[in-house]
Amino acid sequence: AAAKEIRIQDATAHRGARVRVSGWVSRLRTQGRDMMFVVLRDGTGHLQCILSGRLCHTYDALTLEPEAAVALYGVVREVPAGKTAPGGHELVVDYWEVVGAAPGGSEAFGNRLNAETDPSLLYQQRHLVIRGDTASAVLKVRARVMRAFREHFDSVSYVEVTPPCMVQTQVEGGSTLFAFNYYGEEAYLTQSSQLYLETCLPSLGAVYTMAESYRAEKSNTRRHLSEYTHCEAEVPFITFEDLLNIIERMVKDVVARVWAEPETRAMIEQLNPGFAPCDEPFLRMRYEEAIKWLNDAGIKRAEDGKDFEFGDDIPEAPERKMTDTIGRPILLTHFPGPIKAFYMPATKDDPRVTESVDLLMPNVGEIVGGSMRIWDHDDLAAAYAREGLDPAPYYWYLDQRKYGSCPHGGFGLGIERFLAWLTNRHSVRDCCLYPRFVGRCQP
Ligand code: 4AD
Ligand code: MG
Repeated sequence: AAAKEIRIQDATAHRGARVRVSGWVSRLRTQGRDMMFVVLRDGTGHLQCILSGRLCHTYDALTLEPEAAVALYGVVREVPAGKTAPGGHELVVDYWEVVGAAPGGSEAFGNRLNAETDPSLLYQQRHLVIRGDTASAVLKVRARVMRAFREHFDSVSYVEVTPPCMVQTQVEGGSTLFAFNYYGEEAYLTQSSQLYLETCLPSLGAVYTMAESYRAEKSNTRRHLSEYTHCEAEVPFITFEDLLNIIERMVKDVVARVWAEPETRAMIEQLNPGFAPCDEPFLRMRYEEAIKWLNDAGIKRAEDGKDFEFGDDIPEAPERKMTDTIGRPILLTHFPGPIKAFYMPATKDDPRVTESVDLLMPNVGEIVGGSMRIWDHDDLAAAYAREGLDPAPYYWYLDQRKYGSCPHGGFGLGIERFLAWLTNRHSVRDCCLYPRFVGRCQP
């Protein structure tokens, strides 16, 4: 009889019907000579398939290995009482064929790899590792999270834009720029789309982008990639207080959206047992209070073992120690100018500090960096001079301060860091498809 090709997620609707399902052998178990159980995976779910009798005696059956691509024909039925299977149903196979065979041992790269496996092997073989349940769950949550960000911005009417990745300006300091030869001129891979987003305000109003950003990070850490997905937004006519509320509302809304979806929620619960969306207000803390917190906690500077002082950059380890101890999201604000980017304005009440914010999450640390922007032309020109930056390539960024400038601010969130927090991954390297970091540009 003719069989309709279905995807595993639609199996319920086809109970009782003869169907064809194509996918990869995720798990394989034989029972005696006459029974084989194949757990088939097609990206939309898992389906238990039963092969019996002469279907198990062919050359293909005897040499079948996990990760082979197969097409199975049969009738979908509810699992008999007392047995369990994914989705509560199974396929009773009456005909099947191998589409692409796999050698023995292929599954080693998926489900048999674990936290003890040499990480360099994991990244070298990542094209196989992503077949595993954990890696594929993270990638699915990632897809859902990216959609939730877009849904969120859509709900607040921000317009999505796609700024260029090949640029001639820096945003976050010259030391992490990737330079390349652009038809004989020096150009860089973008560190942030912020400057371009700012130029969109007069034409589009509030805007956002989800684009790759690039940082030549020389150190090997669990939260730095050379290429990462940067979710950035820019909003006109706001105050610093508004900016903090915008960031907090966005993070809570995105979590609520993914949490509301049973399938995604189940994956998050599996990856991050005990996770619950945060309903309380995020803790708001000034940089100066954080310095005091570190000193009260007896945490010392790595370089000289002394107390932290106002003006010090708070490195990754102490930042995470503080965030983990406090155990809830922290909006850390008012960083001193010299440790922050050139475009950040000083606060009116305390010119030592800027209208800047980092959002810190337990287990990861900083996931968002944002600020108000200097919106007066001459103040911005002065900031270039102070930083020793040649303003020429930024003529367009300065120009807009001459044509209807307004107070505005925005932020950038690293999608991989957000995911490391949400899915409790040790490293951002496990939160993207093919991580790029010092020493790795493959696969
Ligand atoms: O704090 P950053 O450097 O801020 C900016 O780039 C601003 N121009 C953004 C803006 O206001 N539009 O980076 C923002 C976020 C960080 O909080 C972090 O989550 C992520 O980007 N990030 C990285 N993620 C992975 N690997 C790296 N090397 C990252 N560098 C920054
Ligand atoms: Mg930052």
